[in-house]
Amino acid sequence: MNRILGIETSCDETGVAVLQNGREILANEVASQVAIHAPFGGVVPEIASRHHTECITQLTQRALDAAGGAIDAIAVTQGPGLSGSLMVGLNFGKALAYAWGVPLVPVHHIEGHIFSAFLGPDPPEFPFLALIVSGGHTCLIQCEAPHRYDIIGSTRDDAVGECFDKVARLLNLPYPGGPSIQRAAESGDPHAIEFPRGMAKGDSLEFSYSGLKTAVLYALQKETLPVADVAASFQHAAVDTLVIKTKLAIEKTGANRLVLAGGVAANKLLRERLANDLDVPVSMPPFALCLDNGAMIAAAGGSRLQHGMVGDLRAGVYANLPLA
Ligand SMILES: Nc1ncnc2c1ncn2[C@@H]1O[C@H](COP(=O)(O)OP(=O)(O)OP(=O)(O)O)[C@@H](O)[C@H]1O
Ligand SMILES: [Mg+2]
Repeated sequence: MNRILGIETSCDETGVAVLQNGREILANEVASQVAIHAPFGGVVPEIASRHHTECITQLTQRALDAAGGAIDAIAVTQGPGLSGSLMVGLNFGKALAYAWGVPLVPVHHIEGHIFSAFLGPDPPEFPFLALIVSGGHTCLIQCEAPHRYDIIGSTRDDAVGECFDKVARLLNLPYPGGPSIQRAAESGDPHAIEFPRGMAKGDSLEFSYSGLKTAVLYALQKETLPVADVAASFQHAAVDTLVIKTKLAIEKTGANRLVLAGGVAANKLLRERLANDLDVPVSMPPFALCLDNGAMIAAAGGSRLQHGMVGDLRAGVYANLPLA
């Protein structure tokens, strides 16, 4: 039996989980700061790190109580993310690793998102292609073997989640934008306005989402439009671009499985489109594990541990930690 404590504090969610034998979630505690940052329209780094400090001990206690039994290793997000927030989780993890005499396994946040798919109903096997869509990332990653990644396409400007957040602000919808736009889009016409699909023509695997955001701004400046129609048309264009690029990446790489992960993987339309439009099976995390959480970090850390990739108490945080 192998039990990993996973700690995630890279942005505005404090996540602590206990994972047994790679897939069994014994506890998964998440304290979201969404309501705290909502009045500012985005995450305030200083407030985020203070809040992680305030709640990490209690969350960990709750997770340990729920899981029961001893912990064999501690996996903790080392980067990328907000330095102050990362430091809270990493130092807390170090203290526990030292006190309990167990290994500390530093994890890359995006690797955590990739491993969230291993906790879903249809876990992948290597090799596969991963589409990572979140607040800070939009990329296609060839995952050849555990912990061997090749980024074959990423965004030149805004991430798709960031674009949802910015467009929501233009529409006066609450932060975070992804869920608000999805809700508003339910009663709208996705074909009411033809928005651009950034860099969709040609055979590049790069993404661009700043043009889409600007197109929404110009459409709103030109005339008064129903919010539901703008939300639905925007969501349709944003998702369509992801589907087009993913199809192209599958064609180019010959991948025979896709992993979808990251906060935007919670989007219903994206999940449906990828499940229906691709010729390869798609592994996705359950809705609850799309947003930042400790379980995905424990899953990635457990695999690192299995492959002998252990850190030590000198580990530091890296705001821009590269994946590949
Ligand atoms: N249903 C949804 N549809 C579209 N986007 C969504 C949905 N739910 C959440 N999102 C978006 O997901 C993003 C948050 O995802 P996540 O928490 O993984 O990002 P992050 O951790 O801040 O960034 P990163 O993972 O790149 O470091 C936000 O931009 C949010 O708007
Ligand atoms: Mg994330």
